[in-house]
Amino acid sequence: MKKSTAQAHANIALVKYWGKGDEKLRLPVNSSAAIALDNLTTTTTVEFREDLKEDQVELVGEGFEAGEVEKVSKHLDRVREIAKISLKAKVISQNSFPKAAGMASSASGFAALSVAAAVATGLNLSEKELSILARQGSGSASRSVPGGVSVWHAGTSSETSYAQRIDYPKDWDLHVLLVMATDTSVKKVGSTEGMALAPTSPYFKIAIEEAEANIERLKVSMRQNDFAGFGRVIEDECFRLHMLCMTTTPNILYWRGITVEVFQKLLKIRESGIEAFFTVDAGPHVHVICQGKDVSSVKTELEKLSEIKTIIDCAIGEGTKLVEDHLF
Ligand code: DP6
Repeated sequence: MKKSTAQAHANIALVKYWGKGDEKLRLPVNSSAAIALDNLTTTTTVEFREDLKEDQVELVGEGFEAGEVEKVSKHLDRVREIAKISLKAKVISQNSFPKAAGMASSASGFAALSVAAAVATGLNLSEKELSILARQGSGSASRSVPGGVSVWHAGTSSETSYAQRIDYPKDWDLHVLLVMATDTSVKKVGSTEGMALAPTSPYFKIAIEEAEANIERLKVSMRQNDFAGFGRVIEDECFRLHMLCMTTTPNILYWRGITVEVFQKLLKIRESGIEAFFTVDAGPHVHVICQGKDVSSVKTELEKLSEIKTIIDCAIGEGTKLVEDHLF
């Protein structure tokens, strides 16, 4: 069997995924949308081998956390089932960004693993099939398969729940600034764990309807070349996600003081006519969406806040692709 290596980009949700209708298949309760980030990648090499009794899985540098190796092995089982093989695999994975950057690596991780493992078994899966496969490892990974700006259709079955790219006005020159606070302690409640509580929020049902409506608003803003409208949807979605988190039992508060300080700074920046919008995933760090022409002024202003450690500027990333440089 051949050795294969794939590279995938992390993504930031514009319309958030927070809640599963089917835990086992990872079917989300609503559709979501995201931007892939060019500077944040996971590269993974996979080889299925006769000489292995167990899967051999390694993450270069920081190593995997408890339970992560089992999740990788379970995902390899899904690939083995489709390919009808029983061989164990050697897997080495490497992230271009540290965990402390506050970005989940599960999206890029499971997208790269899905593509490398499928190709290593000789399967020739379509982008849609790879997105469906990646989704089962981690929901947001479905969106790292097509990359670009994508929508993950919630669907009603495994076959209908996948992500695909959507068009956006190219002259927007979209950028995402990852604003890292100095307090980089790893988040306490992971996404899988946190979203399992979502149905306990009294606002759960209405939040699902709101997300679907926001997917439509996002598409309309792009069709109408309305960047301010696009930004409004992104911020409404940030509050929709965190409103859900804050109203579950138990409550989850991902924000810190600096999170709100960055929001307020951005509102000030906007008064000077610069269009820069915020969103936050399951952690304290703010992600700013703006256009290339405004990156340096937004960065200069945010760097004035004393609790900001670094700001990583990302343009839009590609879809998951095969690369030649194997990790072993
Ligand atoms: C807040 O994809 O990490 O980033 O499917 O349980 O692995 P699992 O969850 P995951 O959740 C991402 C949650 C989010 C919002 C989003 O990316 O849409």
